[in-house]
Amino acid sequence: MQNSLSPFLIPERVELLSGEGGLPCLRLTGDGGRATVYLHGAHVTEFLPDGQAPVLWMSRASHFAPGKPIRGGIPICWPWFGPHSADAARPAHGIARLREWSVLDSAVLHDGRVRLRLSFQPEGPETDIVPPTLRAEMTLTVGRSLELQLCTINDGPDPVVFEDALHSYFAVGDLSAVSVHGLEDTVYADSLDKRRSKVQQGPIRFTAETDRVYADPAPRTEIVDETGACRIRIEKSGSSKTVVWNPWIAKSKAMPDFGDDEWTGMCCVETANVRDGRVTLLPANRHETRLRISLV
Ligand code: BG6
Repeated sequence: MQNSLSPFLIPERVELLSGEGGLPCLRLTGDGGRATVYLHGAHVTEFLPDGQAPVLWMSRASHFAPGKPIRGGIPICWPWFGPHSADAARPAHGIARLREWSVLDSAVLHDGRVRLRLSFQPEGPETDIVPPTLRAEMTLTVGRSLELQLCTINDGPDPVVFEDALHSYFAVGDLSAVSVHGLEDTVYADSLDKRRSKVQQGPIRFTAETDRVYADPAPRTEIVDETGACRIRIEKSGSSKTVVWNPWIAKSKAMPDFGDDEWTGMCCVETANVRDGRVTLLPANRHETRLRISLV
């Protein structure tokens, strides 16, 4: 692994580490902040702006193993979200978070940020369900903010319908003091109530298990922890939905890779194109889903 990645390593800027479970990961150190990304799933597990606490939440019970998703950070759901619509035996949230991605290039930008590009293409049995000509590229840019750009490319002869999500888990001090702003008056489908359409009244507060898909082309939301622990700004483009999720008590206990009491320290605000917001990609076209995370 060291040899195959050595062209992309840059002293003190792009460093190869042996991560949890012995999985390879790259630490990217830009001016203003650093991030860690596992090649497994192109999964960002850490974003640490200089002098601040970690912005992303990670479960202490997460698996770190080939073929299993990492719990926390930013899983990439691609090219479907949730259970597969035609075959429930397929893995939830698609194949991209379960496989090792390849590094395309790395660079230090003129402003001191560090950039890394990774790629993924379906292969083997996956091509039964995803055309091998559909591929994904992920560009990460790290500095005071963390930017992710997930690009889906259709090199095949036919249109392809896909879903995606940058399934960000955010670390909060105390969930009972957290509110999410920017989705007021927005219609959402309540996944815990037969996907009924409802309208968000005021900022989101977490008072029970929450699993919602907001019809949200809005470019900005903010997570405010009123204990003062954090104020996180989430800016996006190329995304028609925002998924908001917290498993609460019973679901946390039911998930083996999620600590029973960890739900109080996290919430997911996901940049997505899912359900009726899925994307139809014509041949020779690409779609970019972009996310920028910063502390305010
Ligand atoms: C959320 C979904 O995005 O991800 C939830 O809306 C789901 O329904 C959650 O439970 C976690 O999914 P997974 O597959 O990582 O356990």
